[in-house]
Amino acid sequence: MSDTVSGHLPRVIHDPAEWRAFCRSLRAYGGLGFVPTMGALHAGHLSLCRQAIVAGNANVVVSIFVNPTQFNDQADLAAYPRVLEADLHKLASVGVTAVFAPAYDGIYPDSYRFRMSEVELSRLYCGAHRPGHFDGVLTVVLKLLQLTGADAAYFGEKDYQQYMLVRDMAAAFFVPTAIVPCPIVREANGLAMSSRNERLSLTDRVAAGAFHRALVDGTSADQARQRLLAAGFEVDYVADIADAARGIRRRIAAIRFSGIRLIDNIGLTATGEATDV
Ligand code: PAJ
Repeated sequence: MSDTVSGHLPRVIHDPAEWRAFCRSLRAYGGLGFVPTMGALHAGHLSLCRQAIVAGNANVVVSIFVNPTQFNDQADLAAYPRVLEADLHKLASVGVTAVFAPAYDGIYPDSYRFRMSEVELSRLYCGAHRPGHFDGVLTVVLKLLQLTGADAAYFGEKDYQQYMLVRDMAAAFFVPTAIVPCPIVREANGLAMSSRNERLSLTDRVAAGAFHRALVDGTSADQARQRLLAAGFEVDYVADIADAARGIRRRIAAIRFSGIRLIDNIGLTATGEATDV
């Protein structure tokens, strides 16, 4: 990976007030696209940046912040990879202008006294298995959207429930940033790319390809669950859901495999068939 493609590394800003001022100045040059992340970047994250650039934004900026309030498991938070230098080189190669890398106190001057919560969808599926998770996600995303003031922010369909909640929150609170969904990037064996995949052994990573396969091959959520169990996964949930705002349906799922929690989802046609192959 080389940063010589764009010539230099993205500018890194840690201070929220400086970030707000810098992003405001960028908007004078044309559209501003924003990609929020927790770092440890892979091809999935970079595809969001590329989509933001292809959409015609004059500048694309990224945040890298491992947000403690969305981790309900402290060991998971402690184990989360922090590799800022490597991330900056990857972002340079796709032409990202700047990176916001705040400290906890910068983002939470109120020590999380104020928080955003949603009381329906956030309590289901991933929310049912990770209490408080989506409060943490929505709170940090709202703060980041406020500070950045982008025209559009890009979210992966990989975290489909997160995308729906962020989109609906932005609409409910009149946030002037468009929330744009981006397709899932997968490994050759179908495994959705994730920073957590790094924690699987090579053998497990190959075997985890059966996760996507089971979602696609199952003719119902229940049948997909049976296939997942048969493949040796522990199943948190499998559900076929409607996304009314987009007029589409998805099959969403979470499993545990060798102690690692993995999530994935696929598109469904109106009659319930998988749109992935
Ligand atoms: P993170 O897991 O780093 O993901 C950042 C963005 O990359 C999310 O929008 C996620 O859906 C997207 N993404 C991850 N893997 C992907 C893949 N294989 N294909 C396409 N997109 C993918 O999601 C978060 O961080 C955090 O919850 C955050 C929104 C930053 C709030 O802290």
